[in-house]
Amino acid sequence: MTYPRKHLLAIEGLEPPHIADLLDLAESYALLNRSGKTQRDLLKGRTLINLFFEDSTRTRTSFELAGKRLGADVINMSVSTSSVNKGETLLDTASTLNAMHCDLLVVRHGQSGAPSLLSQKVDAAVINAGDGTHEHPTQALLDALTIRRHKGRLEGLVVAICGDIAHSRVARSNMHLLTTMGSRVRVVGPPTLIPAEAARLGVEVFHDMKAGLAGADVVMMLRLQRERMSGGMVPSAREFFRFYGLDAEKLAHAKPDSIVMHPGPMNRGVEIDSAIADHPTRSVIGEQVEMGVACRMAVLDMLARGLRRNV
Ligand code: NCD
Repeated sequence: MTYPRKHLLAIEGLEPPHIADLLDLAESYALLNRSGKTQRDLLKGRTLINLFFEDSTRTRTSFELAGKRLGADVINMSVSTSSVNKGETLLDTASTLNAMHCDLLVVRHGQSGAPSLLSQKVDAAVINAGDGTHEHPTQALLDALTIRRHKGRLEGLVVAICGDIAHSRVARSNMHLLTTMGSRVRVVGPPTLIPAEAARLGVEVFHDMKAGLAGADVVMMLRLQRERMSGGMVPSAREFFRFYGLDAEKLAHAKPDSIVMHPGPMNRGVEIDSAIADHPTRSVIGEQVEMGVACRMAVLDMLARGLRRNV
């Protein structure tokens, strides 16, 4: 197994064998989870702290479940009930967590770079669970695993990532991972929601859904992240749906066996039509959540191998 780092802060910088090894390990956890077996001794005696400064449903619960399935002691720190509300700085919170000898620290924060800063101040292995508009590496891993299970490979696939690309850490991590693994990535959205760096990242830019989806193997829809927008970058939700919302008519331009993905939370009727989100054969949104647990188990396992026990 090759994983060269102590932390998982970003997909950018990882090489194909690192990603492939993480996905292979995650695949074995997906099978283990489906068989109902457990491996509760792997992280026995380890402490995992979930430190979430932003809302989360899937990511926090799946890290909790992943940690517990591997036998770790899991603590969820919700910032609304922590001393951060009493004015404590991020770094003071870090030294408090350090004094508790936490082994694995899962961090979500509204500021890009916050998990990286923390990783320099704590002894624990730090996992970025989403930082601002920067990266969300475990989401990209679970997306890649879901794609690989359906398409058998990542190389050569046409993947269209649609909607609010500019504010999406999910899009950024996916662009890095998929281009590294040889997929042909397209981003599709209005000019105001496509980041200037898209071309540098080696992806093709489309402003029209029909053209962007033509011949796609994978269609990945993203939420409008209004909380990260300053001012009106998009027209009304109704108008956005008309041009960029995924419905049967637009999906007809993708390959007939293409799969539809969404990291959640979904805004039905804005970026995706309910009939597509719930489509029994094309939508793999539920499977993404399932693969989220498996990928997080793989990441925890891989990082724990590199940790020396705190005595
Ligand atoms: C995403 C996130 O938080 O970046 N959600 C997730 O982790 N599944 C996407 C979003 O908030 O739209």
